[in-house]
Amino acid sequence: MSADFDVVDLIRAKRDGRCLPAEAVDWLVDAYTHGRVADEQMSAYLMAVVWRGMSPAELARWTTAMIDSGERLDLAGVGRATVDKHSTGGVGDKVSLVLVPLVAACGVAVPQLSGRGLGHTGGTLDKMESIPGWRADLPVERMCRQLAEVGAVICAAGAGLAPADRRLYALRDVTGTVESIPLIASSIMSKKIAEGTSALVLDVKVGSGAFMTSLDDARELARTMVGLGTAAGVRTEAVLTGMDHPLGRTAGNALEVAEAVDTLRGGGPKDLVEVTVALARVMIELAGTGGARAARDPAEVLAAGDAYPVWRAMVAAQGGDPDAVLPRATHIETVPAPASGYLASLDARAVGVAAWRLGAGRARKEDAVSATAGVRWRAGIGDRVTVGEPLLELHTDDPNTLGRALAALADAVTVTPQPPPPTPLVLDHIRA
Ligand code: URA
Repeated sequence: MSADFDVVDLIRAKRDGRCLPAEAVDWLVDAYTHGRVADEQMSAYLMAVVWRGMSPAELARWTTAMIDSGERLDLAGVGRATVDKHSTGGVGDKVSLVLVPLVAACGVAVPQLSGRGLGHTGGTLDKMESIPGWRADLPVERMCRQLAEVGAVICAAGAGLAPADRRLYALRDVTGTVESIPLIASSIMSKKIAEGTSALVLDVKVGSGAFMTSLDDARELARTMVGLGTAAGVRTEAVLTGMDHPLGRTAGNALEVAEAVDTLRGGGPKDLVEVTVALARVMIELAGTGGARAARDPAEVLAAGDAYPVWRAMVAAQGGDPDAVLPRATHIETVPAPASGYLASLDARAVGVAAWRLGAGRARKEDAVSATAGVRWRAGIGDRVTVGEPLLELHTDDPNTLGRALAALADAVTVTPQPPPPTPLVLDHIRA
């Protein structure tokens, strides 16, 4: 880094709504990554970004600086079109577990570098780690070999990939600075561009259980990320999907793996299948513009159970036993339906917080998560329910967690005498 800046001047500039010059952005990201800017200074800067935003030029430079903080993978050796998917985070969002083997079964290689959950949203790696023996950490050569042989990898992003994001995300999580379009967009896109995928589909979640609660904000986030990906040469599109209600029927690590396996075998809840198939179609189409062609529609492949052998191979390649019995909680508490009628709403954030309080998520990044904790709901939106019959199941190994989890769910359920109007799950599709 040639230029040197005074970090307090940069914080003041952002606080007062000014844009940073390119060299200052480079310096700030580099200095924070290497410990020359303190957490409290970066926290102040991030909070100023939450209020003041970034100009398009600043955001592009910030994202590039985050990519340049680490290595960039080269997946050319895989010899097949690659396409990845990233979700902005939701509750019960086990889509990746089904989608990655499904798209691979359709002939497109999927290198999915995933994260762990923070706060009320679950993380793909935490879910996969509930499979006995499964390992998240893969050296790059192993990852590329698995991609060539199995076509599907879900693994942890190595420490060398966008290390600036690793530090910034952990700081944002504890300073109330996650919900910012430029900060979310740069965080996600720096990792995805550094990962080396040729195409990317973003699942931008909208609703109470998502970081973006309004459709307008979600659209802006989607457009921002599609713009960053396209400018970096990654074919990128975004699909906006609803997250007012949690996805499927479970939130919690092993519970979600079991549901994903059920879906891969041709069953599974309708909403999970709908979102997964919608994303798979976009992924295959995007990969197709790079030379691949799918012979069958993903809906047909999924319903026939033809993605399940790929799941088994993917799990086994990373040390997991696809036939192992998944861990189960020692305590299950049920919550009855408050009235008879139709389940009109189940608040995604409340379910996410309850699952997290039961032990499925972590409060600090170094905390361990429970494989067995979580919430299962026995009815989906629009289903008939009967007063007093069990509606929710709370799973935990620690009964002390039940009180606070129940408190989170106090107003989560709405039952109406008439069925709720159907609401679309796929809300929009943003292209470059
Ligand atoms: N997921 C990320 O990787 N980063 C964010 O900022 C939000 C969701």
